[in-house]
Amino acid sequence: MNTFAGKVVLVTGGSSGIGRAAAIKFGERGARVMVAARREKEGKETVEMTKKAGGEALFVQTDVRIASQVENMVQQTIKKYGRLDIAFNNAGVGSIMARLIRTTEEMFDEVVDTNFKGVWLSMKYEIPVMLEQGGGVIINNASIAGVSTAERLSVYSGSKHAVVAISKAAATEYGRDNIRVVAVCPGWIKTAMTEELRARKDADAIQGNIPLKRWGEPEEVAEMVIWLASGAASFVTGGAFVISGGMNV
Ligand SMILES: NC(=O)c1ccc[n+]([C@@H]2O[C@H](COP(=O)([O-])OP(=O)(O)OC[C@H]3O[C@@H](n4cnc5c(N)ncnc54)[C@H](OP(=O)(O)O)[C@@H]3O)[C@@H](O)[C@H]2O)c1
Repeated sequence: MNTFAGKVVLVTGGSSGIGRAAAIKFGERGARVMVAARREKEGKETVEMTKKAGGEALFVQTDVRIASQVENMVQQTIKKYGRLDIAFNNAGVGSIMARLIRTTEEMFDEVVDTNFKGVWLSMKYEIPVMLEQGGGVIINNASIAGVSTAERLSVYSGSKHAVVAISKAAATEYGRDNIRVVAVCPGWIKTAMTEELRARKDADAIQGNIPLKRWGEPEEVAEMVIWLASGAASFVTGGAFVISGGMNV
């Protein structure tokens, strides 16, 4: 089980949902996990859960939209754990669903700054450390909306297509440096982000459109992240990996 013993993993958006599930799974496999997010209480809860699962963990308060905070996040990882082997750039916002002409500039900025700029900034500070070390793995959380789209998703979908594109570009640029970069593309997953949607009357219709006829669990996405981060995926880079119960494939 100790596939990640001695490995240092950074998880952004680790205070809930998919990020928390991934931190715990890395912990179960013996990793040292740096949990980054804005909410301190929830981030520290993930730290406790990760430790309970068998790993080491620390929290670093970070807003991924702000360069100085992302730089600090990576610096703190190196200061506390001495290296950075795996980064799961997962922080994102998605609850904003609006028709294109009703999307405000504030909505656009929040989604694009968190989902796209946040991933770019994270890689901008993570890659130099990996170059210095001689390699690493980066997994960016995009979405099924990063490879397909739907009504009222124009800005979210645009931001996630950008995550897939920057992941492929980084994989192309840094493959020769032994850095693998991939994107994961989850469909509908049961997290805080989709809570409101799941409570709505048309939630059954959403589920009906998923071939496996159910919502995904954050742990199921985390399992894919674990595999992509592991040595078992040593020849895998540049791809966008859909995990959607068969939706939009
Ligand atoms: N749930 C789905 O159906 C689904 C489907 C496809 C893709 N995704 C993607 O999966 C990722 C995780 O979402 P989730 O479903 O697990 O929802 P979630 O439980 O709401 O988690 C979102 C995480 O992102 C963090 N975050 C948001 N803005 C941030 C910022 N500016 N700086 C740092 N951290 C920030 C949040 O932490 P703080 O609020 O504490 O900062 C939280 O930990 C997102 O990128 C999302 O787009 C989700």
